[in-house]
Amino acid sequence: MESIQATKQRFGIIGNDAKLNRAIEKAIQVAPTDISVLVTGESGVGKESIPKIIHQLSHRKHGKYIAVNCGAIPEGTIDSELFGHEKGAFTGATQTRSGYFEVADGGTIFLDEVGELPLTTQVRLLRVLENGEFIKVGSSQVQKTNVRIVAATNVNMFDAIKKEKFREDLYYRLSTVEIHLPPLRDRKDDIHLLFRKFTSDFALKYKMPTIKLTDEAVVVLLKYRWSGNIRQLRNVAEQISVLEQNRTISAATLQGYLPNEGSNLPAIINTSKAESDFSNEREILYKVLFDMKSDLNDLKKLTMELMKSGNVKDVQKQNEGLIQKIYGEEEDATIEDLEVLSIAEKSPENFEPAPESQDKYHFAEEIEEEETLSLHDKELELIKKSLERHDGKRKLAAAELGISERTLYRKIKQYDL
Ligand SMILES: Nc1ncnc2c1ncn2[C@@H]1O[C@H](COP(=O)(O)OP(=O)(O)OP(=O)(O)O)[C@@H](O)[C@H]1O
Ligand SMILES: [Mg+2]
Repeated sequence: MESIQATKQRFGIIGNDAKLNRAIEKAIQVAPTDISVLVTGESGVGKESIPKIIHQLSHRKHGKYIAVNCGAIPEGTIDSELFGHEKGAFTGATQTRSGYFEVADGGTIFLDEVGELPLTTQVRLLRVLENGEFIKVGSSQVQKTNVRIVAATNVNMFDAIKKEKFREDLYYRLSTVEIHLPPLRDRKDDIHLLFRKFTSDFALKYKMPTIKLTDEAVVVLLKYRWSGNIRQLRNVAEQISVLEQNRTISAATLQGYLPNEGSNLPAIINTSKAESDFSNEREILYKVLFDMKSDLNDLKKLTMELMKSGNVKDVQKQNEGLIQKIYGEEEDATIEDLEVLSIAEKSPENFEPAPESQDKYHFAEEIEEEETLSLHDKELELIKKSLERHDGKRKLAAAELGISERTLYRKIKQYDL
């Protein structure tokens, strides 16, 4: 059996807390069986790594692993997503489609936010769990599948059962084994460890010195409630790493990044922000501006050297590192760009940029296009959920998302919602 330590390393899990270790140990123990597992814990505690461990350490590891966010799929399409549909089952069903339970036959399905499943879907799910049977939407033919289910929730399932939003029988069927992940505030010894890991990762990513907390700042870090848990800690570590010029962080500076939370009160932090992981526009803009500022400083330095020396080749040799940093790998372009720069300085009125150097700030637009794409998905998901929660009332959804009604309207148009 794989050790807890090896599993943590393999899945990038940081921390030595006893309750965290117990949760990982349980995942390792239950992995080789087909038992259904329910992962519980507050938002941002790291629930998503548990089903991955279970799948990878099971005999299903060569089968498919599909993660489904039940809260993000509209109620009208979730049955079809999970169980598939027949051609003509509803308007727009132009072809027969397989659902996740058919596709993942022999593998594992992770049902994230399972508490959000509509009651009708819960009935279908119970049937799959009980005898591996399901029926495509619009079909009458019973199909068989062999899927292991791991579910996760950050809501109190007993509350949901009491309010008749979740079937009690399904809850017991799903939670044959329950794995609970503790909130970050109960893992005091791990907080600074995680923070140091995140800030060192961000220092590498943004090519800057690692930030360091003063002793007083560490006290603030440990005392904070962290209602967004590790996701929030990572977010704060990233913001400080990017925005603070002075790399030694005082208690007061750190405090400025921590939303005010009454220690005994429920979290008042806007959850969509806590979940953002850099997903709101202001933060993205900060990041772009910061990168541009850093490049501008480097360019200023280079220009000054060129003015002083006048010899392009010499300056190029002495500043290889800097040039590499600003222009990346394109060494040919570097020479040309530098030449264009020196010509422009001599006769700015005659300056016509060479075609390939026209877009000097192309680097600013190339910042992780993939990240932006997934950010769009995330944003779309957040907007959809918020509108659903508020029965389509834009005013309430906008307030929850922390954006103006106008911006929300624009986004609804943009995403064709
Ligand atoms: N022990 C850990 N070490 C390093 N990173 C972690 C750890 N736990 C969580 N994370 C990181 O924290 C973030 C949040 O984790 P995750 O998405 O698993 O939360 P969650 O419990 O599923 O929350 P939610 O209920 O809101 O979906 C992720 O970026 C994850 O990589
Ligand atoms: Mg999650």
